[in-house]
Amino acid sequence: MNKISIRAARNKDVRPIRRILAPYAKKKIVLPRTAVEITRHVRNFCVAEKDGEIIGCCAFRDYGNNLFEIRSLAVNARNAGSGIGSRLVEFLIREIASRGKVKIFALTTSPGFFQRFGFKTVEKDMFPQKIWHDCSKCPKLNDCDEEALLLEP
Ligand SMILES: CC(C)(COP(=O)(O)OP(=O)(O)OC[C@H]1O[C@@H](n2cnc3c(N)ncnc32)[C@H](O)[C@@H]1OP(=O)(O)O)[C@@H](O)C(=O)NCCC(=O)NCCS
Repeated sequence: MNKISIRAARNKDVRPIRRILAPYAKKKIVLPRTAVEITRHVRNFCVAEKDGEIIGCCAFRDYGNNLFEIRSLAVNARNAGSGIGSRLVEFLIREIASRGKVKIFALTTSPGFFQRFGFKTVEKDMFPQKIWHDCSKCPKLNDCDEEALLLEP
C-alpha cells in the first residue's frame, strides 16, 4: 500500500523528523533542530507517513498576536516532487487558519514554492524583532539569502 497520510506529529516521530531535516540542515537550507527542540515543539509539527515511514515534515511557530511562521519544511529526496511538500504546507495553513484571522509567514530560499499557496514576498522589516531570534543559530547569519513571504488566508 502506497497511501501517504499527512497527520499531526507525535512523540514517536521526533527521531524520524530529525532524520528528515538533518541533510537539509547540513546544506544550510533549513535551520538545524535538535531532538530536544523537536520534542518540545512536537505538537506544532505535522508529518507525511508512507507505509509506516516518515518521509516529510513541516512545523509552525506561534509568535502571538495571530502571527505564525511555517518552518522546518522538508521531504526526503526519494519522495520529492510528488506533492508531499504541498500537502504538508496546506495541512498547516488549514490548522493555523482555523484559529481565526491570522498572518502566516515563511523565511525561505524557495519563494516560488510558497507563492503557489498565495504567499506574497514582503519586506523583512515588517516583522517584529522577536522573529529574528533564531537567526543567531543560523550559519548564514551575516549572509542571509532568505526571502520573507506572507499569507493572510
Ligand atoms: C521544498 C520541498 C519541501 C518541496 O517538497 P515536494 O514534495 O518536492 O514539493 P511538491 O511535490 O509538493 O511540489 C509542488 C510544486 O512545487 C514545485 N517546487 C518544488 N520545490 C520548489 C522550489 N524550491 N521552488 C519553487 N517551486 C518548487 C514543484 O516543481 C511542483 O511544481 P509542479 O506541481 O508544477 O510540478 C522539498 O523539495 C524539500 O524538502 N526541499 C529541501 C528543504 C527545503 O527547501 N525546505 C523549504 C525551505 S523553508
